[in-house]
Amino acid sequence: MCEPIKVGILGLGKYLPEKILTNKDLEKIVDTTDEWIMSRTGIKERRIARDNEATSDMATEAARRALEAAKLKPEDIDLIIVATITPDMFFPATACLVQEKLGARTVPAFDVSVACSGFIYGIAIAKQFIASGVYKHALVVASEKLSSITDWTDRNTCVLFGDGAGAAVLGPVDRGGILSTYLGADGKQGELIKLPAGGSRIPATKKSIEDKLHFIKMNGSELFKHAVRIMADAALQATKPIGLKAEDINLVIPHQANVRILHAAAKRMGLSTDKIYLNIEKYGNMSAASSAVALVEAVEEGRIKRGDKILLDAFGGGLTWGAIVIEW
Ligand code: UT7
Repeated sequence: MCEPIKVGILGLGKYLPEKILTNKDLEKIVDTTDEWIMSRTGIKERRIARDNEATSDMATEAARRALEAAKLKPEDIDLIIVATITPDMFFPATACLVQEKLGARTVPAFDVSVACSGFIYGIAIAKQFIASGVYKHALVVASEKLSSITDWTDRNTCVLFGDGAGAAVLGPVDRGGILSTYLGADGKQGELIKLPAGGSRIPATKKSIEDKLHFIKMNGSELFKHAVRIMADAALQATKPIGLKAEDINLVIPHQANVRILHAAAKRMGLSTDKIYLNIEKYGNMSAASSAVALVEAVEEGRIKRGDKILLDAFGGGLTWGAIVIEW
């Protein structure tokens, strides 16, 4: 019998827009303070894309860097998945735009729309195609321009979000790689965070714009409670079937929604907080791009060593969630 194909990450890349919006800047826009934002969320600043910079532009730049790191060319890619809730437009899919910008072959390209869990869903999908031998190399990009769907007059949400992109090239590896994947969703909780208009339910009208229905609406405190429970449970579901305990994980790369959520989830998992990688201070919540950029930076900073077992863990609108264990 053939050995199963092990799948791992061959290269990573990120792109963050240059413009930095600090909490002090936000103090001038809405009724908030640097102290409130820092103490309640852990966010100090976030990046904001240029007006003429769309999700596919950021995705393409992150993807180019991931390909370079993997020492591969765009023509080596057999599958392109973009995780985003801020696509350039409804269709074509942002993944198709990225394929064209990269100069990749006419390989399958599609978006996944599961909010902050998108990078993890993308990796889990790509892994199946590679493990089954259908494709060899997959590009998974998480890219978000959340500033384009943020209500800059709503202090409950505008202090939280930022823009950016992270990308991973997946392919066969000799050892380690992705050890387990776990995904879930609960549509009953969909009301907790959503963008109400612009789809077929409420197409764009003058009224939908006046009613500010094209911006993120969120019940923050309810989401907070679900997030803590979901992240701890997802970690368990991804580790237990492969015989790992929380203490076997060297580093958790979580979705960066709120430092308080991550500390509470770590406690529930029985992990010390120094095992939770954090970069929320610099970027805020970039939805799907958060865990992708966090993974890139954890590697850049030397926080992940060969042989380490890392846990990607995310939750988001839908609600959706997912966790992945990777042996580096
Ligand atoms: O990526 C996944 C999606 N998002 C999330 O996971 C977010 C999850 N939730 C959270 O991170 C937190 O719930 C928030 C950071 C959104 C809010 O923190 P909180 O500790 O749950 O605060 P709260 O919503 O209970 O609000 C407390 C107070 C309220 O004032 P009153 O009613 O007590 O007078 C808010 O109006 O804080 C007020 N407030 C603010 N004050 C200053 C809310 N936003 C701000 C602000 N600046 N930016």
